[in-house]
Amino acid sequence: MASYDFLFFPIFLVATHAFEFQFTGFNNNEISNLTLGGASKIVKPQGTLELTTRTHNTIGHAFYNKPIQMFDKTNNSLQSNVSSFSTCFVFSIVPPPGSSPGGFGLTFAIAPSPQLPGASADHFLGLFNLSNDNNTSNHIFAVEFDTVNGYKDSSDTEGNHVGVNLNSMSSIISEPVAYYAEGTDARKEDFNMEKADAVSAWIEYDGETQILNVTVAPFLVPKPSKPLISKVVDLKSIMKEDMFVGFSASTGQRKASSHFILGWSFSLNGAAPQLNISQLPNPPSKEKDPSSFPWAKVAIGLISALTFTLLCVLCLLTLYKRYTQFETLEDWEMECPHRFRYKDLLIATNGFKESLLIGVGGFGSVYKGVLPSTGNEVAVKRIMSNPMQGMREFAAEIESLGRLRHKNLVNLQGWCKNKNDLILIYDYIPNGSLDSLLYNENLALDWDQRFKILKGVAAGLLYLHEEWEKVVIHRDVKSSNILIDEELNARLGDFGLARLCDHDQVSHTTSVVGTIGYMAPELTRTAKASTSSDVYAFGVLLLEVVAGKRPVGSGQFFLVDWVIENLQLGQILKVVDPNLDSVYDEEEVELVLKLGLLCTQQGASYRPTMKQVTRYLNFDDPLPDFDWRHYDDSLSSRTSSSFLGDMSSSSYTLSSIGRSAILSIETTR
Ligand SMILES: *[C@@H]1O[C@H](CO)[C@@H](O)[C@H](O)[C@H]1NC(C)=O
Ligand SMILES: *[C@@H]1O[C@H](CO)[C@@H](O)[C@H](O)[C@H]1NC(C)=O
Ligand SMILES: *[C@@H]1O[C@H](CO)[C@@H](O)[C@H](O)[C@H]1NC(C)=O
Ligand SMILES: *[C@@H]1O[C@H](CO)[C@@H](O)[C@H](O)[C@H]1NC(C)=O
Ligand SMILES: *[C@@H]1O[C@H](CO)[C@@H](O)[C@H](O)[C@H]1NC(C)=O
Ligand SMILES: *[C@@H]1O[C@H](CO)[C@@H](O)[C@H](O)[C@H]1NC(C)=O
Ligand SMILES: *[C@@H]1O[C@H](CO)[C@@H](O)[C@H](O)[C@H]1NC(C)=O
Ligand SMILES: *[C@@H]1O[C@H](CO)[C@@H](O)[C@H](O)[C@H]1NC(C)=O
Ligand SMILES: *[C@@H]1O[C@H](CO)[C@@H](O)[C@H](O)[C@H]1NC(C)=O
Repeated sequence: MASYDFLFFPIFLVATHAFEFQFTGFNNNEISNLTLGGASKIVKPQGTLELTTRTHNTIGHAFYNKPIQMFDKTNNSLQSNVSSFSTCFVFSIVPPPGSSPGGFGLTFAIAPSPQLPGASADHFLGLFNLSNDNNTSNHIFAVEFDTVNGYKDSSDTEGNHVGVNLNSMSSIISEPVAYYAEGTDARKEDFNMEKADAVSAWIEYDGETQILNVTVAPFLVPKPSKPLISKVVDLKSIMKEDMFVGFSASTGQRKASSHFILGWSFSLNGAAPQLNISQLPNPPSKEKDPSSFPWAKVAIGLISALTFTLLCVLCLLTLYKRYTQFETLEDWEMECPHRFRYKDLLIATNGFKESLLIGVGGFGSVYKGVLPSTGNEVAVKRIMSNPMQGMREFAAEIESLGRLRHKNLVNLQGWCKNKNDLILIYDYIPNGSLDSLLYNENLALDWDQRFKILKGVAAGLLYLHEEWEKVVIHRDVKSSNILIDEELNARLGDFGLARLCDHDQVSHTTSVVGTIGYMAPELTRTAKASTSSDVYAFGVLLLEVVAGKRPVGSGQFFLVDWVIENLQLGQILKVVDPNLDSVYDEEEVELVLKLGLLCTQQGASYRPTMKQVTRYLNFDDPLPDFDWRHYDDSLSSRTSSSFLGDMSSSSYTLSSIGRSAILSIETTR
């Protein structure tokens, strides 16, 4: 392989040196490295090298201005082999518009001088003239890309061939322009150099084996692995010690195309650097006008007009669709790894189909979906009519929540914004929420299952409060926010969401988000959630799971009050869920109930932390001694009268969505 030659040459032939250059387009700096001759010039601002314009009988040259050592200097030229070389370039031939023919062609040439005075246009392609053609004193090697045939018979028919020339315009090898497509059958694909936007060419010569490879392909087609020409060519008598490499081109008396070079790389004793297509100048535009027949022009005009109209309509439709359906991305949104495309979510949920709705909660509707990219099941929560302000901060917050990972959390996979809707994507947990299991007559959870679930929730909350990089307050711990997986592990969902939803509130209002029955009393006064307000809600949950009763019932039933009353009456086990059929561990049940009461103390500072709660639940520490007769002397303040009395002092809205309720209190600053 050529690239390995590059590594091996310095080892075997000490005196042989490698050398390479590369032009990705041609600009001011690079003109100084070229010797231009004839009509050739750099076209600005495109940065293309134009060898000939479409004027008749012109030639153009462009050679690299430093000589290249084609023989090893330390050795007698006749004895040693020609250096290996490799080149790669992209050219474009622009024939004249209409029916006038294009011509003639261009060559990659290696010559003893960067100037070729006296060379002719036409078939001679700016390399030779009638008197020196086929003279061995020329020392010219060339690969021609010719669009006109018939040099000797002067027939000037359409050409489109690649030839290898030594000292003469009579090619020693000639092939119609084609490339071998990749694949087992290696089909040969013909193409026309004048019609292609641009053409890539690769010329490789191995000095040792004397094999010359020539490969061409339309621009944008990657380099075919099989060359069009691969033949032994002895260049010993052609090359001199110092040679110049470059291009020549010509137009004819009647045939005149522009010949452009867009990029060029060359390497001596190595593989020429591949040109990066995206860094090259755009190929010059070609006026495509295949016929001078006026009717055809009219037809083409009409067709173009129709096509244009159709395209406009299509564009408008697409834009309209985009505007109405798809998100527009802001720069910062690109940097969010957890961001989903709205389109994917539409596909995942079948356009938020009603039948895929698996829940309606405080913050919005939840749909089951299957992500098209991965085939994974997800729960897609859509929070509607939520005019988002400060989206950037909001996204940062979600991005951070998206990094939370715990086996007892419903992991947030990502998010998406579509107009005013916010969409959150969570792991899909198959077995539903804790409350649906707890209050399902046909499917009573046994005590061991309940105890395991409670320990799981405690572990999840502990992670949020103390084990992650920042403190995350859940704000809405409740049985309907706890999902149960196949192995009956508890997975806490919706964490941090309440705080997120604060972001869209206008500055004059703060909202209390939580669910009645689980809300710590201080929340109604300060609206300031804390880890201990989460502990309060968890305490209520402990009682709820043992008793199998909702925290607030009809007729001013308050679960916490009911449990403490029974405890004070010395009949604590009376509150245990009858669905357990008296099958339970008394010690565990008593622990959970007492811990529930400790967590639901009126004073936030008296409540244990989640770390302590976890230790109690695991029987690592005994519950502190507690005189239950004096439990919350201020208990009455929790009862309905003053609880609601607090709220009546400010305006409040109470909205019930499903079984949970959101309380939102507006306070004017
Ligand atoms: C052109 O010449 C300049 C100055 O000699 C050099 O810095 C630059 O690398 C050359 N460019 C190429 C492509 O050889
Ligand atoms: C010089 O050429 C001879 C004969 O081709 C070869 O054996 C020898 O290795 C060459 N010397 C160097 C330094 O390349
Ligand atoms: C042909 O080309 C050679 C070398 O380029 C030049 O010396 C000679 O004058 C040219 N002959 C004619 C007739 O133009
Ligand atoms: C070129 O010259 C060689 C002798 O040097 C001769 O054999 C050959 O036929 C000539 N080719 C053409 C096309 O004139
Ligand atoms: C080849 O060119 C050289 C120098 O230009 C000249 O002396 C010689 O006569 C030419 N040979 C032929 C066969 O034309
Ligand atoms: C030329 O092509 C042949 C056949 O594809 C390949 O084996 C060889 O390595 C190539 N030579 C060079 C110098 O690239
Ligand atoms: C020169 O080429 C011949 C084959 O053409 C090869 O056997 C020899 O090793 C080569 N010599 C050098 C110095 O590369
Ligand atoms: C080609 O150039 C583009 C733009 O400069 C760059 O992004 C890309 O990585 C390059 N590709 C290669 C293969 O170097
Ligand atoms: C949980 O779901 C699995 C399958 O999704 C089901 O077989 C199992 O009965 C469910 N368990 C409960 C407790 O709902």
